[in-house]
Amino acid sequence: MKVAIVGATGMVGNVMLTVLKERNFPITELIPVASERSIGKTISYNGKDYTIISLQDAVNLKPDIALFSAGGETSLEWAPKFSETGTTVVDNSSTWRMDETKKLIVPEINASELTKNDKIIANPNCSTIQLVMALAPLHKKYKMKRVLVSTYQSVSGSGIKAVRQLENEIAGVKGEMAYPHPIGKNALPQCDVFEENGYTKEEMKLTREPQKILNDRTFSISATAVRIPTAGGHSESVNVEFENDFDLKDIRTILSETPGIVVQDNPATSIYPMPIYAHNKDEVFVGRIRRDETQPNTLNMWIVSDNLRKGAATNTIQIAEYLLENGLIG
Ligand SMILES: NC(=O)c1ccc[n+]([C@@H]2O[C@H](COP(=O)([O-])OP(=O)(O)OC[C@H]3O[C@@H](n4cnc5c(N)ncnc54)[C@H](OP(=O)(O)O)[C@@H]3O)[C@@H](O)[C@H]2O)c1
Repeated sequence: MKVAIVGATGMVGNVMLTVLKERNFPITELIPVASERSIGKTISYNGKDYTIISLQDAVNLKPDIALFSAGGETSLEWAPKFSETGTTVVDNSSTWRMDETKKLIVPEINASELTKNDKIIANPNCSTIQLVMALAPLHKKYKMKRVLVSTYQSVSGSGIKAVRQLENEIAGVKGEMAYPHPIGKNALPQCDVFEENGYTKEEMKLTREPQKILNDRTFSISATAVRIPTAGGHSESVNVEFENDFDLKDIRTILSETPGIVVQDNPATSIYPMPIYAHNKDEVFVGRIRRDETQPNTLNMWIVSDNLRKGAATNTIQIAEYLLENGLIG
């Protein structure tokens, strides 16, 4: 496989390189791409140095697959240029997610939708992926009616600039701001920009993307997304109302038996998911599983995952692996 990594110098791009190596993805030629600023610099992969090239040079090399994590504008302009030459693109930006002609994939849930004709495939938003990973198996059995989710999202979810802002604040150094306010010792009820309805883009991603992934518009989701000063790993407080009553033990069993999910739930010993434990892991961790005692058929839970891994790089590479294993590339 000739593999292009578009955004190879970024937070997600870096983790992609690590995950590709860990999973032994069969790379014959690695093509790292970044902005004009980085062309000519080198990155290291599997003990070898690779020179960063431009997007156009990468298109000319006709990679088999291009894994994009370089922001929406780059994806909008360049994903079609790659796909027109036969490259399959898996894109981490939000550009193609709600496009009706593009698939939005979490491999554990809907990889079987993919065909050889899918040349631009969208990776869902990081906070969406961990949410649907836990919701999908429960929805199958108990049918969701309504979900309320509040997120506690790490600064790594906003890219390198935001990580630097937090580091500068901790060190007491004045520097460039990624957010409109300080993030250290703070909580910002704003992830991304606001839409006209008063919700942020991140909140609307959480509202819209799960319906597309689960191919079901019969349930609704309302979201509040908050940025907190954790380095990596997003957390979510989730309240789910089902059509049918459930057995708590069964909920735990279903989640424990779902590939990619780990249940961490023992209040007696203060065991529950936390970003510091999810860091550098591919799984989605679920805990604080309890009945909402204020209304019937309603569950509360707490979901944590590494936003750069399952929320981005790992999910992208799982899609690439599925395409490869099923002969859907080329
Ligand atoms: N961080 C997350 O948890 C997360 C999760 C899911 C999805 N995403 C999405 O993944 C993308 C990247 O996020 P990130 O957190 O990795 O951001 P980041 O750390 O800021 O990295 C951005 C990357 O894109 C490259 N880039 C920027 N402008 C470019 C251009 N015009 N042409 C080519 N390359 C360009 C940068 O190259 P230079 O180094 O040369 O500037 C860098 O490699 C975004 O679309 C984001 O929404 C992020």
